[in-house]
Amino acid sequence: MAFDVTRVRAAYPALADGYAYLDGAAGTQVPASVIAAISGAYEAGLGNSDGAFPASARSDAIMARCREAVADLVGGDPAGVVLGPNMTTLTYRLAAALAARWRPGDEVIVSRLDHDANVRPWAQAAGRAGAVVRWAEIDAATGELPAEQYASLLGDRTKLVAVSAASNIIGTRPDVAAITGMARAAGALSYVDGVHATPHGPVDVGALGADFYATSAYKWSGPHIGTVIASPALLEALHPDKLVPAPDEVPERFEYGTPPFADLAGVTAAVDHLAGLDDAAAGTRRERILASMAAAEAHEQRLFGELLGGLDAMQHVTTYGKAARRTATAYFTVAGHTPRQVASHLANRRINVWHGDNYAWELTGALGIRDSGCAVRAGLVHYNDQTDVTRLLEAVAELG
Ligand SMILES: Cc1ncc(COP(=O)(O)O)c(C=O)c1O
Repeated sequence: MAFDVTRVRAAYPALADGYAYLDGAAGTQVPASVIAAISGAYEAGLGNSDGAFPASARSDAIMARCREAVADLVGGDPAGVVLGPNMTTLTYRLAAALAARWRPGDEVIVSRLDHDANVRPWAQAAGRAGAVVRWAEIDAATGELPAEQYASLLGDRTKLVAVSAASNIIGTRPDVAAITGMARAAGALSYVDGVHATPHGPVDVGALGADFYATSAYKWSGPHIGTVIASPALLEALHPDKLVPAPDEVPERFEYGTPPFADLAGVTAAVDHLAGLDDAAAGTRRERILASMAAAEAHEQRLFGELLGGLDAMQHVTTYGKAARRTATAYFTVAGHTPRQVASHLANRRINVWHGDNYAWELTGALGIRDSGCAVRAGLVHYNDQTDVTRLLEAVAELG
């Protein structure tokens, strides 16, 4: 393993502005190679899909390469990579297509751990279909989502289990493989929200047992694009609303309108960038991604130990979440200051953090902090370094 954070940071032009970017959970910065891929696509000339001229063929090739790159990132099949504007839009689209098969009395299971984008589309679609929504609860003391509870939540009417691979505020990584395994045994499909998990370590959709896996490129150094990965056979069985002349093949059937081709070139460049995070990584792109993401995870976790330990040592700070497996994402309050005030204080020190519910609506409710402005989120990604952590801890200490 050869993770050189100085080399990694040098790839990101925006990181030179003197700010500590601890807001990666809401969207990362992009490396120069991604910016170059996007502008390069425009410079080369693009056309709409499936035309008789070279600029159109270039766009088609960009799209094909993007599906291969996303498939390499998560261990999926390029023919099952659906591309779209973001995870929320794609999840509403999939929910509508899946719910067309639901009948009154069918059931779906959502969780209190999840970002609202993996809750509300299912709950609303269930409401329209007359299906019942069942809730998996968190342990508020630890922030864990116990997998055992699914045994009693699942039944022979369960159609879908929606669950997060990692919480976007407290970082909890539930035992997704156990949950999807139980879902499959009960005859239900699983929809795994990998938006927060994907940037924080190696992903293997097969090992997770996810029928659908959603992720957004802007959380892992790419442009604002979302994607859902499924098996082509499963996608074949679904029939979303679509325009009559639009392609009826899979995965194109799920992709509405003209895609942002240049941004898709940026997604491929982002995957290539991730594959190179570990200098010493060798082999196929998939192999280099697995090695690089493992190295990035080790780097993040080492820094996170210090960040969390430092926050926990301060009398005036309360941190949330103690899951055994979690991403490098801290969520905390500071006595005597609202989360917004803390974020403003940190902004004055040129430190970017988020405050508020971050759309983890159910989770902030379950933690009992939604009505008081929630908390502050400081998250690490691969490009954060020791200086970022030290600056955050010093600035939070000033509030004591
Ligand atoms: C865990 C999680 N799920 C879903 C989403 C929604 O993703 P998108 O912005 O691509 O719709 C986010 C965005 O912050 C997220 O963190």
